[in-house]
Amino acid sequence: MQLQRIRTGIACLTCALVLTGFGMAFSGTASAATKSLYTRLGGYDAITAVTKDVFKRLAADKKLGRFWAHRGDDGLKREFQLLVDFIVSSAGGPVNYPGREMKPLHVGMQIDEKDWSLMMGHLKDSLAKFKVPSRETNDVVGFFESTKKDIVEVK
Ligand code: HEM
Repeated sequence: MQLQRIRTGIACLTCALVLTGFGMAFSGTASAATKSLYTRLGGYDAITAVTKDVFKRLAADKKLGRFWAHRGDDGLKREFQLLVDFIVSSAGGPVNYPGREMKPLHVGMQIDEKDWSLMMGHLKDSLAKFKVPSRETNDVVGFFESTKKDIVEVK
């Protein structure tokens, strides 16, 4: 009888350990699958580095450069910071975007389809330069595309 109780005790303990282990493994898998885009991109500094690269490419582009020509350094720094804040906060990072809404902000700039495709080309080149994996690249590209309806004015 005593031996039987000890056996049952060991069986229950094993069962509990297996269940706990399984639970931990399961929750580990679930959290990896549900990590924010912000985390998957490598956090604030990684997002800032890619954004800086894109920003430089946009300003240096022959057609797009007109949007940033003759702007003061301080205004450019402010815009860059707001762009980082916008992306970080939209990707689930710990930042509150204090800037303007996409539509009223860009309205009147006469941004056209060609501007848009040039901008997306620069974004993709920067993501490739920083070796951002394909899942995250698709997510970032998808996020940018989601803002297009508020930004492109001239079809
Ligand atoms: C061809 C595409 C685009 C062009 C030409 C463009 C142009 C500009 C320009 C000239 C400004 C400065 C406005 C000002 O100082 O008053 C600006 C600001 C900004 N843009 Fe864009 N933009 C484009 C696409 C985008 C996209 C795709 C996003 C978001 C993913 C974005 C987010 C922002 C933000 C957050 C600001 C600063 C907001 C603020 O000042 O409150 N832009 N953009």
